[in-house]
Amino acid sequence: MNGNSIGVFDSGVGGTSIWKEIHKCLPNESTIYLADSKHAPYGEKAEEKILGFSIKNTELLLDRKCKLIVVACNTATTNAITYLRANYDVPFIGIEPAIKPAALHSRSKTIGVLATKGTLTSGLFHSTSENYANGIRILEQEGKGLVSLIESGKVNSKEVQELLEKLLKPMLDQSMDHLVLGCTHYPYLIPVLTKILPSHVKIIDSGEAVARQTKAILNQYDLQNTSLQTPEHQFYSNTDEVVLERFLKDVKGNLKVDFIDF
Ligand code: DGL
Repeated sequence: MNGNSIGVFDSGVGGTSIWKEIHKCLPNESTIYLADSKHAPYGEKAEEKILGFSIKNTELLLDRKCKLIVVACNTATTNAITYLRANYDVPFIGIEPAIKPAALHSRSKTIGVLATKGTLTSGLFHSTSENYANGIRILEQEGKGLVSLIESGKVNSKEVQELLEKLLKPMLDQSMDHLVLGCTHYPYLIPVLTKILPSHVKIIDSGEAVARQTKAILNQYDLQNTSLQTPEHQFYSNTDEVVLERFLKDVKGNLKVDFIDF
């Protein structure tokens, strides 16, 4: 069991931003990553659809004997993780917009959250905002269109820059001093975001925290890989694996990227 892989899934390429943090933090673990790009964006779909995709992805990872599953998608976490935890036997790690650190450190008492509609309208997001944001104004902004642009490889395009400028302006006009990235695709926008945002606005991304939590849960359940064999990393896309491969260019290691239909 301990030599089995960690399973990771997302609606597409975005979760590779989380996978990279996990790989850094747990270099001895093998992984299987599913990019469900065929069904992206999840964020504009109904809750029962997002739940259905999350179940399908989970079962595929469990068929491949994954010992733990990371839901590397805010939209799937906020809409499906409660169900997944209640219905499957492996530990699940999820990701949610990191409101807490932003709220704790905000001087202007105004933070922005950029996320998908599916995340912003979920019950889990609402209860988290209520718990942590006492006395803090939380400005919510749907990043409509961003996931599709990133999925089609246009991360550094003028189109992305203009869309971001339009989306961020209302939050900047209201003095936000922290921007929470509430979607795992968005860390790929950090170079463009730093060009647009004034230097006092801090970008909050939870990738590292998710990796630390994954390590803690592996330890808690005694699931760490202790074998001396080189770990393997299998990536699957159900659209164009070449697009997924581009997001992994900077990674060294034993990596395989393939197409499968799921
Ligand atoms: N990476 C997903 C997230 O974190 C993107 C959701 C989508 O496909 O719309 O929310």
